[in-house]
Amino acid sequence: MRLVIRKTDDPILRQPTEEVAAFDMELQKLIDDMIETMRTDNGIGLAAPQIGVSKKIFICEFAGDKEAEIPEVPLTVMVNPKITHYSKEQRRMVEGCLSFPGLEILVKRPSKITIEGYDRYGKKIKIDADGLYSRVMQHENDHLNSTLLIDHIKEVNAVFIGTGSLGVPTLEAMATDPQYKIKLVVTSDFTATSRKVKLNLVEEIAKKYKLPILKTKNINAPDVIAKIKKANPEVVVMADFGQIIKSDLLNLPKYGVVNIHPSLLPRHRGASPIQQTILDGDKMTGVTLIVAGEKMDAGPIISQVSFKLTGSETSTILKDYAANAGASLLLNSLPYYLAGDLKPFDQKEAKATYTRLFKYEDGLVDSETDAATVERKIRAFDDWPKVHTKIKNLDVQILAAHFDPEHNLIIDRVKPAGKTEMTYADFQRGYHSELTFKA
Ligand code: NI
Repeated sequence: MRLVIRKTDDPILRQPTEEVAAFDMELQKLIDDMIETMRTDNGIGLAAPQIGVSKKIFICEFAGDKEAEIPEVPLTVMVNPKITHYSKEQRRMVEGCLSFPGLEILVKRPSKITIEGYDRYGKKIKIDADGLYSRVMQHENDHLNSTLLIDHIKEVNAVFIGTGSLGVPTLEAMATDPQYKIKLVVTSDFTATSRKVKLNLVEEIAKKYKLPILKTKNINAPDVIAKIKKANPEVVVMADFGQIIKSDLLNLPKYGVVNIHPSLLPRHRGASPIQQTILDGDKMTGVTLIVAGEKMDAGPIISQVSFKLTGSETSTILKDYAANAGASLLLNSLPYYLAGDLKPFDQKEAKATYTRLFKYEDGLVDSETDAATVERKIRAFDDWPKVHTKIKNLDVQILAAHFDPEHNLIIDRVKPAGKTEMTYADFQRGYHSELTFKA
């Protein structure tokens, strides 16, 4: 029978456990139910308190993973166990727990143990274990001593810096992860092109989680640096901020300023990686985590994730995708970086390419612009500056277009100055005009 797994703050998880006195039928039934529950819930270990029984029993089993080179853990039942030897050598590994769904924490433990106890029929057993086997049994033995995964959390003081939407999923993920204590959120209401942001989503998230907010147009101002210093961050996480960070701040946190950059660095360093990815017709892109240095986007790489592009992405869509990919990348690799298990490596300088801030003029096209460029610009500049063309001194924004199977550019939607958005067909009828571009 599948049993209900007790979760998070259920007091039974903290209750002292009793030794098993009788290896009777009742015990056999309980162990069978535990095995069924562990397998059904895809766990690799289960301790009796987790199903509401305060007794010294745990089980574990793992089929093995050839790809990740993790050997199998045989089905093991441990009754009244005692760990009699721990290796001096320790290892860090990410652990989860059926009682804390979704929580993954990097835990340092001795790599090898000797454990003694009884099997389900009361026969004395002694196991020397290393790797995952040792890890799981230490975790389950913790449960029998009322120690939980959350007790292994070493909270890291962090400061988040960002303005645009790219960092929003990261901020939210860090705010809800017990491994991080966000002491301060630094943001600005202005983008790198000095445009006021319509809605500061970073600020919205900071308010939602009641995080202290500091707004500044100059992150390097001494009073701002002083406030960040007072927050005492071990790490600063930065995404989509639009201001250059100087050495005073770069050198302040022990683990530096970790920057989330939406490209496969060293490709597309600089202010507009997402737009440039689309303008260049890249087939692949990604997100890179770097330790920020004095030279923009040139710092050593902590980790990187790549993904394929379909060729129909707009900047808004790509940014949204990269924002979520960046949050998972940070959550999955920051603990290893902070633990010293992930050593940042230098970028290949010779392969670096650079992007610049775009201006209104970058969105201007005319009949001499080739159709492929127009189509890419419409997607790249969908948020700003948008694609503009002039017809008899009338500014017309081209909002959407696509190529037909014969590779002719078909314009779908436009917005003449002072009017609302309309279909291109309506525009042609109303304005007796056509927009043509080079093949
Ligand atoms: Ni557990």
